[in-house]
Amino acid sequence: MANLAYSYMLWLSILVCACNVHVMAQRVGGGSTKFYDFKVQTKRVTKLCNTKDIMVVNGKFPGPVIYAQEGDRIIVKVINETPYNTTIHWHGIRQRLSCWFDGPSYITQCPIQAGLSFTYNFTLEKHKGTFFWHAHVSWLRATVYGALVVYPKSGVPYPFKYPYHEHIILLGEYWLQDVVKLEDATLASGGSPPPADAYTINGQPGPNYNCSQHDVYKLDVVPGKTYLLRLIHAGINMENFFAIANHKLTIVEVDAEYTKPFTTGRVMLGPGQTMNVLVTTDQPIGRYSMAMGPYMSARGVSFQNISSIAYFQYLGAMPNSLFLPAKLPSFNDNLAVKSVMDGLRSLNSGNVPKVIDANLFVTIGLNVQKCHSKTPKQNCQGLNNGVMAASMNNISFVKPKISLLEAYYKNISGSFTEDFPGVPVKFYDFVNGAPNSIPNNTQTLTGTRAKVLEYGTRVQLILQDTGTVSTENHPIHFHGYNFHVVGYGSGNYDLKTASFNLEDPPYMNTIGVPVGGWAAIRFVADNPGVWFMHCHLDIHQSWGLGTAIIVKNGKGELETLPPPPPGLPRC
Ligand code: C2O
Repeated sequence: MANLAYSYMLWLSILVCACNVHVMAQRVGGGSTKFYDFKVQTKRVTKLCNTKDIMVVNGKFPGPVIYAQEGDRIIVKVINETPYNTTIHWHGIRQRLSCWFDGPSYITQCPIQAGLSFTYNFTLEKHKGTFFWHAHVSWLRATVYGALVVYPKSGVPYPFKYPYHEHIILLGEYWLQDVVKLEDATLASGGSPPPADAYTINGQPGPNYNCSQHDVYKLDVVPGKTYLLRLIHAGINMENFFAIANHKLTIVEVDAEYTKPFTTGRVMLGPGQTMNVLVTTDQPIGRYSMAMGPYMSARGVSFQNISSIAYFQYLGAMPNSLFLPAKLPSFNDNLAVKSVMDGLRSLNSGNVPKVIDANLFVTIGLNVQKCHSKTPKQNCQGLNNGVMAASMNNISFVKPKISLLEAYYKNISGSFTEDFPGVPVKFYDFVNGAPNSIPNNTQTLTGTRAKVLEYGTRVQLILQDTGTVSTENHPIHFHGYNFHVVGYGSGNYDLKTASFNLEDPPYMNTIGVPVGGWAAIRFVADNPGVWFMHCHLDIHQSWGLGTAIIVKNGKGELETLPPPPPGLPRC
């Protein structure tokens, strides 16, 4: 019965999606091949009483959903009809032997220039769950994003009771300014960016904001059923709490990997994280709010503190009854974040590498550079008249002029070096012992430095937050891989006291490293290519919080990255 319902759902969803995007499916050896055209366009929209052009895909905001099944091949022709450069990244898709189609600009490809196109082609081998796609140039992700839902193979059930219905919930941030200009202006100022003008749920700010009484996402639900919500954080510069009034959320999947069911009143997602939750409509018939509010763990940062509200409305509720407000934790409730983290356990155990070949230790955090501008008032608006920066192991990543993958593959010298350090140059009390004379002692080096790993290396990486400017929870995303989050804690990482879970740690692609703390991740470097690892808060990425991991080819054919595809964009 469940399977029948499942295939019905699948076909229904494919039908639904066929109306939105041009899609043709062909069956090829087990998986089918799906073709899409993604036209990146500008669209005039009015939100918050303000009309402006945003960039969207196929005229839709949020963009079209890709529905597929494990094993399918996805072919997307991305046609850039905007004046800006663009690329699309398939967030969470591991791109096994297909690094060329990963999408981060200047890492795996040059951007697709105005008027040009590029066709992405990858398989969903051993992938299922909730993913998303987004632009990976400047801050275009602010409006260029959409869900990518991969169902299990036919006949393979969910590890939980089949839900009555499922819905996609995309969390976003909306700016009244043009986001490309906003990034440029922020970098030119040397200071911090302004907060978003609104948070959005499925593109809608909801009634708490000016002029948005009717710009609300509504979910009509039937009493006594269980719903699956696919939560996706596509926002730019904020992490957020999410809750539904009077309803519990049971987490069953994070970053497209099943977890043991864990029930909680609220969750926190950082940009780049996805989470499937089950919600049972077991409350009195009525109208309830879903809310997305701020989680800001850093000190002294201004942020949007108005929550975005959507409606969760029971069939049969009185039309004029009030919507019961959702209870969100306060913006700095680190414990609320930790208590959810503590509940995440992978459904399957036993795959964690026990023996480690490479032990890496990477500090993550913000810095302030000395002002070298002749017009400091304009360009040095960072703390103590410096210029804001961010770094990994005290190196601010600078995007190269051509794609790293191309430079690496074709042996073109001069655009990067292979000397990203596997450990910090000096160890000190990273969390509490930060230099106290900003910006004189917090300079970073700048450079395009990559870390090279031999094929098959079993890696442990400790990510350590620093308090150089302010400690903060950073959502660190790694392209091309999921990793086992074997441990995390507060303070400085200490081998002697750290406790690890090698049995059933969550298997994620974006880890919110605890504020003023650390996280330990493990993975086997078995996917050759050049993979971006970065903070998914875009302002931190713009400031340099990232690095590239180069994984060399192995010996066999299935361990070797194929040559670049035809039509790869030129810079
Ligand atoms: Cu969704 Cu490089 O990220």
